[in-house]
This record gives sequence, structure tokens and C-alpha cells, in this order.
Amino acid sequence: MYKIITADRFLWEGIDLHGKIVLEGGTSWGNTTRLIANKVVENNWRTELISVDIDDSHFNEIEEDIKDDFAKLTLRKGDLSDLYFIPSNSIDIIICNYTLSSVEQFPLRVMKAIKELYRVLKKDGQLLITEEMPIWSVDSADYTYWSKRLRIIKSISVLKAMPAFNEIHPNDLEEGLGIIGFKDIQWREFNEKINAEMAVKFLDKRKQTLIKGSNDLENKQLNDGFVEITEKLVKEFEKTKEFLAPAYILKAKK
Ligand SMILES: C[S@@+](CC[C@H](N)C(=O)[O-])C[C@H]1O[C@@H](n2cnc3c(N)ncnc32)[C@H](O)[C@@H]1O
Repeated sequence: MYKIITADRFLWEGIDLHGKIVLEGGTSWGNTTRLIANKVVENNWRTELISVDIDDSHFNEIEEDIKDDFAKLTLRKGDLSDLYFIPSNSIDIIICNYTLSSVEQFPLRVMKAIKELYRVLKKDGQLLITEEMPIWSVDSADYTYWSKRLRIIKSISVLKAMPAFNEIHPNDLEEGLGIIGFKDIQWREFNEKINAEMAVKFLDKRKQTLIKGSNDLENKQLNDGFVEITEKLVKEFEKTKEFLAPAYILKAKK
């Protein structure tokens, strides 16, 4: 869904992947995995990439796309809050694009994950994080699509008692990383471009949970109302290719 476009320069500035072991947190559809693989192949770098996700459902398609050109890729099913399969002080660079707010669906799990990221990173190794700004911290008419979509997703999650994404404010993340021991922490806000077609897919998934799941509150009006506003937003998205989201990139060192 996400493609680092506007912040690409800041993300890669001062980052040298050649001869490095890179850990990616949150493979998902493989956007960042492909981005790293392309960079490595184009530049003929000797880079090893381990990409970890708790959900391995996209691993096969990613492997099929990448493995022929980039053999040093390991896709590993695992929880970032328990990286027992990665030795301490073994990773040069860690990249987590839009993953930590997903880990934080379960409160405090992100602290365990950050502790693990710190453990596996070599001394002076680099941590790169991209995240959306928390919805409560942004009050701007520039992000209507983003805001409507997130509000609907969050509301349905609460209605169906599902874990919901918890975006982390960069100030809080900076402080949390500092408590764990990270140093040289800097972050910058930017506008992310979200692909509308992918955003529709995600909305549709949430709509299906309303239609197929049990109606725990036994209130048909409430359920139908959310189906209606979801379908209305999907129609709006069909008219656009992409929309803006407020995001930030954070960099830190061990
Ligand atoms: C928005 S996606 C990441 C997007 C991806 N990094 C990219 O650049 O397109 C968030 C991912 O985090 C994964 N995730 C959530 N909690 C996790 C955990 N505790 N450990 C590992 N992965 C986790 C989810 O399964 C999901 O695939």
C-alpha cells in the first residue's frame, strides 16, 4: 500500500547497504522488501536481507518475484517482540516501514519489539522507522481521505472487538527508543502517498467482517450504517489514484 516516494532521500541518506546484514520488520506485501532488493541488485551490492513478519501469507509471491535475482533473501515467520532466531549484535541495519503501529495492536508489545531490535543490532548499527502520524495529532483538511479511511477502520475494529492499529507519535517513539538505549535519534515529517486501489482492498476486508461476523451488539442499524459509510468511501476512492497521509521517518543508532 505504501511506497516511500517523498521521503526516499532522507530515508537512504547516509545508509550504505553494501556488505551489510539488513533486517526488515513487517514484510507484509513486500513493498519495502522489493525496494531493498532492487537497490541491492541495481548496485551489485553484497547484502543479506532477513525479512520478518508474523503473517507469512505473502511470502510465496515475494519469493517468486525476488529470489532469482537476489538469493540472499530470507523470509521468516516470526514475532518482532521475540526474535530468538536472530543472534545478539548481528544486524547492521534494521528497517521497519509502517510496522510498529501494527505491532502495537497489543499494548506494550512494541516496547518488547524495540528491545529485541536493540538486542540484535550491532553497536553503531542503524535503525530506520517510517510510521503514519497518529490520527488524533493531525488536524488538517489536506488529509480527508486518509482521515475518513482510518476512522472507519478503527471504528469497525472497536465495534467487532478486533485489535486496532495504534499509531505512535514520534515524540513518544523517540522517548521509548531512548529508554531502551538508542542514541542519535532524529525524525522528520513528510507526506506519504497511499495507493487508493490497495486502500480499497483493506476497507473491503473490514466491510466483510461486518457482513459475515456475528452482530455482537445486536444492532442492525449500527452494522448497516458502517457498511454504508464504507461503501461510500470506496466509491470516492474509485475516482482517485492516490491520496496523501501525514507520516514521519525516524532514524536512530545503537
Ligand atoms: C502495514 S504492514 C507493513 C508494510 C510493509 N513494511 C511495507 O513496507 O509495505 C504491517 C505488517 O506488520 C506485521 N506485524 C504485526 N505485528 C507483528 C509482530 N508482532 N511481529 C512481526 N510482524 C508483525 C503485520 O503482519 C503486517 O504485515
